Amino acid sequence: MSDRVLVFEMAPRDGLQNEARVIPTEDKIALVDALSRSGFKKIETASFVSPKWVPQMADGAEVMAGISRRAGVAYTALTPNMEGLEGALAAGADEVAVFGAASETFSRMNVNCSISESYERFRPIMDRAAAEGVPVRGYVSCVTDCPYEGRVAPEAVAAVARALLDMGCYEISLGDTIGKGIPESVSAMLDAVLSLVPAERIAGHFHDTDGRALANILAALALGIRTFDASAGGIGGCPYAPGAQGNVATEAVVGLLEAEGFETGIDWDALGEAARFAQRLRAG
Ligand code: HMG
Ligand code: MG
Repeated sequence: MSDRVLVFEMAPRDGLQNEARVIPTEDKIALVDALSRSGFKKIETASFVSPKWVPQMADGAEVMAGISRRAGVAYTALTPNMEGLEGALAAGADEVAVFGAASETFSRMNVNCSISESYERFRPIMDRAAAEGVPVRGYVSCVTDCPYEGRVAPEAVAAVARALLDMGCYEISLGDTIGKGIPESVSAMLDAVLSLVPAERIAGHFHDTDGRALANILAALALGIRTFDASAGGIGGCPYAPGAQGNVATEAVVGLLEAEGFETGIDWDALGEAARFAQRLRAG
């Protein structure tokens, strides 16, 4: 098993999307640039969603245009529908992501359609992105618990993950959207998913509401997962998951991984600067 782990940096998107205060575009650009200097190979930079639903992400095109791109870094964007995909392509996103859920109620609250309707929305995105040579990541939200429905069946998560893989997503990021997972529920969920999707196509995306994200990452590492999403400074949350805290802090994840003997390629000092900057943005 590889001793290298890819940390996918989320702060500019999952980190900032939930902030009520309007964050100036130049600060978002400065955050992305600080993360680029830290050695991340993947930075989720923007979200091409409806500005009525998530006003904070309305300046995605300006953010993408303003960043200093580093060679070898993929600057990625969320694209819920064709309108979002066209925006992301025009802005030069290196990679895009569709996002679905394992819970029907969360799907309706987050993207205003059922799980099966979301697949129909994703298909043209997959076709158009493939024609442009742009890889598509797939997210599954509520992989252990849903803010509206409670516990989510592992088989439901596995079915959505497999559907996204079959549609052409290169990787499936499994989101503990509200940070209620515990190592036991995460392992049971992963057992089900891994019966349908190989570990190298899976990423872990843990929010840290109850302080168990690192324990959940250890559980996922033990099952062979080698990609984790994290947010510098631990900032963020989801507007449609009331009470949910940010993604697990990147600096905590990198510290854990290195203590466990994994390589991340992240520059510790540069990450510290980026994390402090991210937290200042949240503080206002
Ligand atoms: P809808 O209202 O059903 O969409 O929203 P619609 O097609 O009826 O369009 C309504 C209006 O929005 C129209 O404008 C569209 O043009 C506009 P109007 O004619 O009324 O002036 N519109 C757009 N504008 C810009 N870009 C777009 C776009 N799409 C429509 N892409 C929709 C459906 C999916 C658009 C909406 O529900 C939405 O934007 N949802 C996004 C919610 C979101 O961003 N959630 C947070 C990200 S997911 C997350 O955080 C979880 C994750 O981190 C993993 C985890 O932790 O679990 C990934
Ligand atoms: Mg998230």
